[in-house]
Amino acid sequence: MPLVSMTTLLERAYAGGYGVGYFEAWDSYSLEAVVEAAEAEHSPVIIGFGCMMVSSTWLDNNGVGILGALGRQAAERATVPTAFLLNETHTFEQAEHGIGDGFNTVMMDTSAWDWDRSIEAVKRLVTIAHAAGATVEAELGRLPDAVADGIDDSTAFLTDPDQAAEFVRLTGVDFLAVSIGNVHLLTNGYAPVDMDHLEHIHQRVSIPLVIHGGTSFPPSAVPRAIANNAVKFNVGTILKKSFWEGINEAILNAPAPVNVHDTLGSHKEADVLNAGKARMKAKVQELMRLYGSSGRAE
Ligand code: 13P
Repeated sequence: MPLVSMTTLLERAYAGGYGVGYFEAWDSYSLEAVVEAAEAEHSPVIIGFGCMMVSSTWLDNNGVGILGALGRQAAERATVPTAFLLNETHTFEQAEHGIGDGFNTVMMDTSAWDWDRSIEAVKRLVTIAHAAGATVEAELGRLPDAVADGIDDSTAFLTDPDQAAEFVRLTGVDFLAVSIGNVHLLTNGYAPVDMDHLEHIHQRVSIPLVIHGGTSFPPSAVPRAIANNAVKFNVGTILKKSFWEGINEAILNAPAPVNVHDTLGSHKEADVLNAGKARMKAKVQELMRLYGSSGRAE
């Protein structure tokens, strides 16, 4: 199954009444967890890597190239429709490199940029991406960051529906991430999302909408999100947490003396990283069922 454009993936999802997860990976084990979960569920999937938590220096020092090569290979060999995203780059240049390095969708973190700078940069990126057969996601509004600032982060603001329509018109962006009360990095409970607000945005914007902060997005709000074309759910924190729990348990249970070759990176039974991967894969499968994408690989 070739790499599929995220536009195709999300248009099919909206027409079919289900959502597609972007399950953020950070290395080969976590990436394999996502692809294997999608194949087990027979689900379309968005694989990829996030930049927000990763050293910008490392990304600039060919980190984007390494991640691009890894994910592109995985996407092209997957047996289910797969799009490949470079999420929330620190800079314009990282996103631009991402396009050249094999990602078929890129997104810059413009949450701290002013309106004019965002419009100019997103529009320029869209031109470059479309010429290369790739697509661009952008965010308008700003999510609270549960770790750095708490849920009531005063720098957060909801996406304004009229501004969103203007932003899409001026930039030509393909997908728009929205702030409707959703929260990044929250692992304790669910975010206080305003689904009426999402509906107002949907009335003004016809491109697919994206929900960041998938870890704390209330499961009960998923069907209404999908009905309003918010068909892409970004999930990060809960996956790392699951992976960590798997590793931690495996390390605690490892028989002494430890054979470091078997325990680290062997891809054998005793590999603690495999234990993390298995735990993450189970979580991804659970979320695919929640979003309704299981069994929808076409
Ligand atoms: P969570 O870590 O809160 O799931 O959010 C992930 C995200 O939005 C990545 O773009």
